Parts: sequence; structure tokens; C-alpha cells
Amino acid sequence: MKIQIINGPNLNLLGKREPGIYGNEGFESFLQTLKSKYAAVELFYYQSNVEGELINKLHEVGFEYDGIILNAGAYTHTSIAIADAIAAINRPVIEVHISNVHSRESFRHHSAIAKNCKGVIAGFGLKSYELALQSFLL
Ligand code: DQA
Repeated sequence: MKIQIINGPNLNLLGKREPGIYGNEGFESFLQTLKSKYAAVELFYYQSNVEGELINKLHEVGFEYDGIILNAGAYTHTSIAIADAIAAINRPVIEVHISNVHSRESFRHHSAIAKNCKGVIAGFGLKSYELALQSFLL
């Protein structure tokens, strides 16, 4: 099974960025833990701060891989283009968030992409990604 994790803007700063909200762990170290725990899964990781690059990656893997775990960061709340890219591909996408976006500012309550995703997982810290991964293994 091939699964692509895609992180959007500012998620390259995990571990340094607002640790009270996003925690102290960088994504690379978490990814190593995830890879060793789910060794049977081929896990690929991509991060970009650029909207078009996230769309390019969705196009690249979205007809080939078994699933995509997407944290689009703030683009979640605004990007019709990412929503359209998810609609255009034919592999399932799970929207994830580290924080519980519904307990934060009201502009984070709306997702432009959720309607095109298989499901949404939010609020479990980095475990949100693991729960998304597990959902592909059910
Ligand atoms: C986030 C939540 C978004 O509202 C925010 O813009 C992020 C991170 C999360 O993982 O909790 O960049 O997607």
C-alpha cells in the first residue's frame, strides 16, 4: 500500500511553530516513528508552502497511490483550487489537522476541501495523521 502525506504552509515549522498549539515534535522525527510502526505501508512525505505545488503533488499521486493524507494548513479554509484538485483525482484524500480547528477562531471552522475528502480528522495532535493512516488499513 502506497500512502502520500502532504503538508501545506507553515507545517515545515512543526516543533518550532506555536508549540502550545502544534506541539514540540518536528514532522520528520514523527514520520520516522510512523514508518517504523507501519513498516508494511510505503509512506511518502511532501511539504510545500506553495498552493500550486500542493496541487501538482495531488495530481502526481492522485491517480496512482492508494490514499492521500492532506493537512492543507490555512489553505484548508480558503482554497477552491485545492478542493478542485481533490475532486479531479480518483484516490481517497483524508483531511487532517493537528489542532481541533473547531475550538479555535471561527475562520478555521470552515473547510473548503472537506466536501471532496473521504473524511476529516482533527484535534489529536500528530496522532491525527496516524488515525488517518489506520483508516486506510481498515
Ligand atoms: C492546521 C489548522 C489550520 O487552521 C492552520 O492554518 C494550520 C494548521 C492544523 O493542523 O491544526 O496551519 O491545519
